[in-house]
Amino acid sequence: VDLWLIVPAAGIGQRMKAECPKQYLKINNRFILDITLSRLLDSAPFKGCMVPLNAQDHWWPDSESARDARVQTCTGGSERADSVLSALVALEGLATEDDWVLVHDAARPCVHREDLARLISMLSEHPVGGLLAAPVADTLKLVEAGPLPVVSETVDRSQLWRALTPQMFRFGALKKALSDCLEKAQTVTDESSAMEFSGNMPVLVEGRPDNLKITVPSDLALAEFILSRQ
Ligand code: CTP
Ligand code: MG
Repeated sequence: VDLWLIVPAAGIGQRMKAECPKQYLKINNRFILDITLSRLLDSAPFKGCMVPLNAQDHWWPDSESARDARVQTCTGGSERADSVLSALVALEGLATEDDWVLVHDAARPCVHREDLARLISMLSEHPVGGLLAAPVADTLKLVEAGPLPVVSETVDRSQLWRALTPQMFRFGALKKALSDCLEKAQTVTDESSAMEFSGNMPVLVEGRPDNLKITVPSDLALAEFILSRQ
């Protein structure tokens, strides 16, 4: 059983409001995408790595990863799930049904190598797979929508976790789950939700809560700080 890596990087980073997609913003003079990819590739024995890129991407050739023989690219799609599926299709013929695929957001450069190693070792014998996740820390309110949202109740957070990446599933099962969801126009925001929809319930492996997804402008300084402390 081999391990494969997919790092979706075809987004445009609308919420980041930068002059380029956020994965091409720099921290310590390196593209975020390069920090993410080199961390993962240096931390586990991946057989190969597929990076779906936006059809309009013209930054990739300037990346360190473009010169990394371990990395291949394909064209992504309009939603994250389409990009991941395009990468799975590009790996067809290389990966076998039972191989593991780890999917990790390009915009999460702070992922820790110990978390990656723990995810892989804890799930390697599992039939379905799972994902890194962290318990919710804030008090959560269920609201009645309106011009000003009004609380209807405080939700018990003891059973609520935040989904992180990497998410690790079997190649064949993940490809089928994502294709089915896209075909049925079922909303999928991560690989886990596609697996859940197919009735295969993923396992959560607790990961560090500082594995942040760079999303809004203030996240950039935060990620820089987290990386400087690791
Ligand atoms: N992604 C992708 N293909 C898409 C959309 C997103 O490969 N069609 C990737 C992004 O590049 C990112 C990851 O999925 O690495 C997580 O998505 P998100 O944080 O939402 O990034 P963007 O979609 O780029 O940002 P935004 O939603 O603010 O536009
Ligand atoms: Mg997005």
